[in-house]
This record gives sequence, structure tokens and C-alpha cells, in this order.
Amino acid sequence: MTQLWGGRFTGPAAELLRQLNDSIGFDIRLYNEDIDGSIAWANGLVGAGVLTAEEAKQINEGLEKVREEIRLEKFVFAAGDEDIHTAVERRLTEIVGPVGGKLHTGRSRNDQAVTDFRLWVKRATKDMAAEIVALGTAMIDHAEQHIETPMPGYTHLQHAQPVTWGHWLLGHFWPLVRDLERFHAVLHQADEMALGSAAFAGTAFPIDRDALAKELGFKRITRNSLDGVSSRDYVADFLYASTMLGLHLSRLAEQLILFSSTEFSFVVIADAYSTGSSIMPQKKNPDTLELTRGKSGRLLGDLTGFLATIKGLPSTYDKDLQEDKEPVFDAYDNLRLLVPVMRGVIETITVNADKMAAQLEPGLLATDLADYLVKKNLPFRQAHHVVGQIVQLGEKRDIPITDLTLDDLQEISDLFEEDVIEAFSVEGALAARSVPGGTAPKAVRVQIEQARDALK
Ligand code: ARG
Repeated sequence: MTQLWGGRFTGPAAELLRQLNDSIGFDIRLYNEDIDGSIAWANGLVGAGVLTAEEAKQINEGLEKVREEIRLEKFVFAAGDEDIHTAVERRLTEIVGPVGGKLHTGRSRNDQAVTDFRLWVKRATKDMAAEIVALGTAMIDHAEQHIETPMPGYTHLQHAQPVTWGHWLLGHFWPLVRDLERFHAVLHQADEMALGSAAFAGTAFPIDRDALAKELGFKRITRNSLDGVSSRDYVADFLYASTMLGLHLSRLAEQLILFSSTEFSFVVIADAYSTGSSIMPQKKNPDTLELTRGKSGRLLGDLTGFLATIKGLPSTYDKDLQEDKEPVFDAYDNLRLLVPVMRGVIETITVNADKMAAQLEPGLLATDLADYLVKKNLPFRQAHHVVGQIVQLGEKRDIPITDLTLDDLQEISDLFEEDVIEAFSVEGALAARSVPGGTAPKAVRVQIEQARDALK
């Protein structure tokens, strides 16, 4: 019998059971956390009078050997190594002899699994935060160069009002700041130690859980052993933060795909982040951005699949909970590619200011024309109507509203005077929007400072 739990069984496990039950194929990634947890546990057992200091030293040296074997890919797996906890303990006992069998005193794989994974998620969360900061920095640096590059702004994907490219890009930056805040919240949720819960009722040995938590770098300990082994909301939090980040990247990707199309040509994605077509020699495709958009779907799947898994689970540990790891690994692995890829795209993107300027047709200034009338004391509702008639007249004559004469305008409203020409300026329209958060270059300069502060 190779399983650690084989005592009460008379026959071997079916091969199919192993295939279904074993998690070693993916939880091997937790080996560092598992060994850190075991070393701390051995020290805790000394405090509890279960191990002598000498025994703990033997165990801990053995655990470091196991760590080295796995790290150097020299670790030989055995048939009963169903998960990382089993594999490490089995190999430890081979190395140090029967004393290795004392390590599992007063603990369970249930509290081990959750402790390992909380440690892993904490580290992964810090990695994600660092990647987001790097991307955000690249976006700010790029935006800073385009504080005064005008482009048409859109609502409903229709021409609306002029904005600047810098302001537009920063519109995709602030969601990342909120993602960062979400990952900080994940860190807080994950930062709780369940070790000492044992299988679910609490360990029967006098373990100093607070000292153990401190040794493992946890801020606090779980207050209920049943909840300790079975709560996975920190996992859902990680997946939600990941999904939201993925969706933000997807929306940015979608717009860059659109803006890099021949019809827009506002931007050119660098060759380094584009691919070719196997049949059409002229083509340059934004595959990196399309995959960014596409993968947001699977991130969403990772989240919803996991939520479905935990819904309705009875307390405490159920094997369903083993399904917590793969969606997290999937989300993490994909984002660890997608975030730096987006950074690369932004760092190498070329902006065609001329193409953007060429699309700045006078219709974009219709709101400013209405604002001009408001300044002459016409209520905005009426001003809106007047400008609507002007737009209609332009359309009827098939000319831009800027080509209408002052006489034409005055026929619609006698409030128009010579100075109306000032309302027809893109620079004026941009400068007017100097409210905090507005597109005026002056306001965007302040925004850039705020953006840098937000990443600190
Ligand atoms: N491989 C398991 C997991 O990832 C470890 C816990 C197993 N516990 C048990 N009672 N079978 O959740």
C-alpha cells in the first residue's frame, strides 16, 4: 500500500481513481509553500512538546533536501504521491527515516492545502500588482507625450467632442488603479493562517498558532477551524480581481484594434507585437491584442466555474475544494503574459497625429457652439435646439457648419456675432474643458501627477 492513508484499505486504488483524484500534476507548483509550511509546523511541534529540537532539525534539513530535489527536477515521483503534501512527506521519510512520520502530528492535508495556497496566492497577488504598476507607468509615460495631441472623441462610437490622445489613454489607466486596489484587497483576504485547524475541529496539540502565523508571514489566524479549512472566498476574490483586470485589458485591446485598422489608422502596432497572414502578403494582424481580448473570456470562465464549484458545498472540507487551484493558475499564467504584452504594445505603438487631426470635423464642435450661445445668456436647451438647426442647414447644403456665413447663422439666431469664430477652434474646445478630470492639457498635466501618485 503506497498511500499515506492506506491502513484501513485492503486493495489498491483503481488507476482511474488515481487519475481523477491526484492533484500532484498541478499542485506541485505549491512545493515551496508546502515545505515552508512544514518547516514552520515542525518548529511549532517543538513548542508543543511533540518533537525534540534535534528531531525538528533532522526533519527540516530533510525538507530542504526535498526542496532541492524538486527545484533541480531530480525528484522522483512515486505512485502514491497523490498531491504535493503526500509527495513531500513520503520523500522526507525516505530521507530522514521514521522521524519523518512525526511531522504530520496534529495537522491534516486540509489545513496544509489551504495554508499552502494562501501563501501562493499572496505571492501571486504581489506579482500581479507589480505587473500592473509597470503597465500603468508605461501608459502614463506615453500619455505624457500626447497631452496636446487632439483626436475625435467618441460616444456610441460616433464623433462626439475633441479630446487628446493622452487623455484618451489615461481613460484606460484609471481602471488599472482600481484593479490594483482590488489585488490589495485580495492580499488582505488571503493573509490569514488556517494551520492548527487540523482536519476541521482544531488540533489536539498545544500549538502556538500566532507564533506559527508570524513565522510564515501571515497577518492573522483564522478564528474558526471549520471555516479555516473550507473557506475559499480569497480564491474567488483573486479570480474576480483577475477577471476584472482581464476585461479592462480586453476593452483597451479592442479599441487599439479598431484604431489600428486601415480606416482609422490612428495608431500603428509595432511589428514586434503583430503577426502576418499565411496567404495575404500585405497583412499585419494585431494578434496580440486579439488574444488579449479573447483570453478575457477564459478568465471569466475561471471565475464563474469556481463560484459554481463552491456553491452549496457543505462545511467543512470536501474534495470539490481541490478544484480551487487550476482556475487560479490559469488566470495567473495568462495575466502574467497579457499584462507585460500590453505594456510592450504601449511602449512601441506609433501615433499618427495627422490621421487623428484629419478626422477633426467641425461637427465635433457643435457643443462648443451651443456653449457660445449659453454665454450670451440663452438657456442651454434652446441653444442645443439652435445648433441642431445649424447642423441641419449644413447637411442640407452639404457643407461643414464652419462654412456657413455669419448671415446664415444670424438667420437662425441673432445672438451670433463676429466672435463666433472662436467657438470653432479645437484648441479652444480642449482648453475649455479644464475642470479636474477634463481633457484640457492643463488639467491632464495635473492628472498625470495624480496618476503617478496612484501607483506609489
Ligand atoms: N489535494 C488536496 C487539495 O488540494 C489536499 C487535501 C486532501 N484532503 C483530504 N482529506 N483528502 O485540496
